[in-house]
Amino acid sequence: MARRPGEPGLFLALAPMDGVTDATTRELLTSWPLAPGRPSGISMCVSEFVRVTRQPVQPVVMLRHCPELARGGRTRAGVPVFLQLLGGDPEWMARAATLAAELGAPGIDLNFGCPAKTVNRSDGGATLLKQPCRVEAVTRAVREAVPAAIPVSAKIRVGWEDAAPVVEIARAAEQGGASWLTIHGRTRRQLYKPPVDWAAIGRAREAVSMPVVANGDLFDRGALLACARVSGCASYMIGRGAMGRPELFAQARGWRDTDLGAEELAALLIAHAEAMAAEGAELRATLGRFKQWLRMAALLRGDAGAWFEALKRTQTLDEARAGLAQLTG
Ligand SMILES: Cc1cc2nc3c(=O)[nH]c(=O)nc-3n(C[C@H](O)[C@H](O)[C@H](O)COP(=O)(O)O)c2cc1C
Repeated sequence: MARRPGEPGLFLALAPMDGVTDATTRELLTSWPLAPGRPSGISMCVSEFVRVTRQPVQPVVMLRHCPELARGGRTRAGVPVFLQLLGGDPEWMARAATLAAELGAPGIDLNFGCPAKTVNRSDGGATLLKQPCRVEAVTRAVREAVPAAIPVSAKIRVGWEDAAPVVEIARAAEQGGASWLTIHGRTRRQLYKPPVDWAAIGRAREAVSMPVVANGDLFDRGALLACARVSGCASYMIGRGAMGRPELFAQARGWRDTDLGAEELAALLIAHAEAMAAEGAELRATLGRFKQWLRMAALLRGDAGAWFEALKRTQTLDEARAGLAQLTG
């Protein structure tokens, strides 16, 4: 299994999703036994983004976003977790990256794709796509700040208004020294609306020599094959698909044929809620994440949609447990 894009074998990363693929979820998805005797099939993870403004980021903030730093930047199953930084100021991004490297991050990922208005208004995320030279400047500053052994990857969308600038943006990231580039095949304007544009990812891939990781709507094996055909990519990042079909990583590697059964998914959801509770999370937060996972799974699975409707007003963990047992029993 490739740990980095460009290595032999299939590279499948778990996407960063703020408020979704937190450390508890990363831990669970990289350790849950989805195929007998096999690891999860996840090559690497990326943390939720750490916002970098014109002031120092405190170590405690990085450790909160990426508690795996205390274990060499790996989940307990040994899967590397890159720390993601989001910001538009090269100097402050470089300082934050230096700290992340000192804390033990196995790699740094740069977020140039976040479409959130609040983030974009304060000069972060997808805003930088409007000026590819700024993508280059931030990437270069971070690349120069951290030891050469630590990869610096960048994550972009295909453009702000349309996909025309994707090649220029990809070249800018490469010029800045990115180790590889992940491209979500949507513009900022689209947010998460269809269609995903894997062909634009392919145009960027052809224009650069660093590996390109394709991302966007990779919801099943058929989508992975179609994306490979259209984009020419051999490396992929999976986000929402991982919440509805966590078995997709193992399936794509030929380690598992069947889709996850209702009971198996329910067990995973309950294990997540129990892990959050054991870590001392408030009940509100635990149930919030439980319902959010259900909602995301509902994008891909009809049964999860029905569970969400039935459990969206659940007030306790016991109620959630009993409700799921009844719905899946
Ligand atoms: C709720 C949510 C939160 C996200 N947070 C981040 C983030 O923190 N950093 C980032 O680079 N992308 C973030 N993304 C984008 C995903 O990483 C990914 O690019 C996008 O969901 C498309 O991939 P998918 O179709 O496999 O989900 C987020 C997406 C969602 C739905």
